[in-house]
Amino acid sequence: MHIAVTGSTGKIGRAVTARLEADGHDVVGFDVDGPRGPAFTRVDLSDYGQALDALLGVTFRHDGVDALVHLAAIPVNGLVPDAATFQHNTAVTFNVLHGAHRAGIKKIVYASSINAMGFPFDEPPPYLPVDEGYTAANNTYGLGKVVEETIAGQLVRWDPELSISALRFTNVVAEDGYGSFERAGELDYRRDLIGSYVDARDAALAVALALEKGAPGFEVYAVSAADTGLTIPSAELAAAWFPGVPLRKELGEFETLLSIDKAAEQLGYVPRYSWRDR
Ligand SMILES: NC(=O)c1ccc[n+]([C@@H]2O[C@H](COP(=O)([O-])OP(=O)(O)OC[C@H]3O[C@@H](n4cnc5c(N)ncnc54)[C@H](O)[C@@H]3O)[C@@H](O)[C@H]2O)c1
Repeated sequence: MHIAVTGSTGKIGRAVTARLEADGHDVVGFDVDGPRGPAFTRVDLSDYGQALDALLGVTFRHDGVDALVHLAAIPVNGLVPDAATFQHNTAVTFNVLHGAHRAGIKKIVYASSINAMGFPFDEPPPYLPVDEGYTAANNTYGLGKVVEETIAGQLVRWDPELSISALRFTNVVAEDGYGSFERAGELDYRRDLIGSYVDARDAALAVALALEKGAPGFEVYAVSAADTGLTIPSAELAAAWFPGVPLRKELGEFETLLSIDKAAEQLGYVPRYSWRDR
């Protein structure tokens, strides 16, 4: 397939591009920042004209794509003022999703976040493992992700052939990003992430699977590693962090408290990487 990847220069974008190219796809990267190269075009996606034009075609790069992976965003609060985080990200995602719809692209996978489902969990989740049935934003970045899911859920109603998968990634860890796991025995480590993490290569796997298996309509999938980032058993974490919150299943010793059951069942997502094997 010919696939456009927005945010291709970023942490997840690099892993996704590598994965899709290894799978034999033709990838063109769109990012506001990045080195010149034969499969990359510098685009400011906050400008609707640039977003739409780049999706329709770019001389010497592509003349139409079959699918879109949308990862471009300000990836956390704090980098710019809070209002700018919301305004930038929601505008970019509107431009990219609506532009793709205008361009006739039928398959879209894009990045949502654990920030749309309770991060940093000062307020306990309603049940554990928490899953896609829970939506709660506690900052402007998360609010943007919730708004973007609403946009996507409505856009698919405008085109019965359009498939959009929102992947609610938890904290994505690049291969050189495992330094903090030396704190894995501390009870407050990753508490705000309910213990979760996901290797960037597994995030890329989830993208590849959603591109392959996503059906027309809109679906949200939580994406995490299969285990937590702690050496404390998951049942003990749940009891210590969220006393009284019901457990919906018996937990494996270090099983993730961010459910990946939906991605496993519908996409065949089985994460391959654990910090424990490093
Ligand atoms: N990294 C994580 O732990 C994590 C977790 C959950 C969700 N996400 C989401 O995944 C996506 C990718 O995150 P990441 O960690 O790779 O972030 P990143 O900051 O490493 O990459 C984002 C890329 O988007 C580009 N970009 C930003 N604004 C742009 C614009 N206006 N036009 C064109 N390009 C623009 C940036 O230049 C950057 O290369 C984001 O939507 C982020 O919110 C990330």
